[in-house]
Amino acid sequence: MKQDLMRFSVAMPEELLIEFDQLVARRGLAKNRSEVIRDLVREALVEAKCATPGALVMGTLTIVYNHHASDLQEKLHDIQHDYFGNMVSTVHVHVDAHTCLEVIVLQGETTQVQDIANLILGTKGVQNGKLVLTTCGQHGQHT
Ligand code: NI
Repeated sequence: MKQDLMRFSVAMPEELLIEFDQLVARRGLAKNRSEVIRDLVREALVEAKCATPGALVMGTLTIVYNHHASDLQEKLHDIQHDYFGNMVSTVHVHVDAHTCLEVIVLQGETTQVQDIANLILGTKGVQNGKLVLTTCGQHGQHT
């Protein structure tokens, strides 16, 4: 749905504005101050929504592990079956002779998705990882 754009003025310290303009420049020729502010506002709204208990979210959990670590693959597999209702998909990449990278796509209530991610991240042998949450609500639309 196309919406009219509302104008408002923003006051900020000069130093902050200089840094903001550098950020705008880094985002490419197609971006201007208004577009970057809209992006940042949407980002903040998604973040706030994902932090609200009860919110439905999508999460991508990226993990790196050594597949020789004892029982690790089996443990990770068990967790994904225990929470099959929250599992959307998994991409497994064999990075080298020892290292695996997995991207696990999760969905569900935000606290539960974060708990499942923490369970996976806390499994002995997982070297590192990160959960990124998002929502697919109205603020995700681009103007
Ligand atoms: Ni692998």
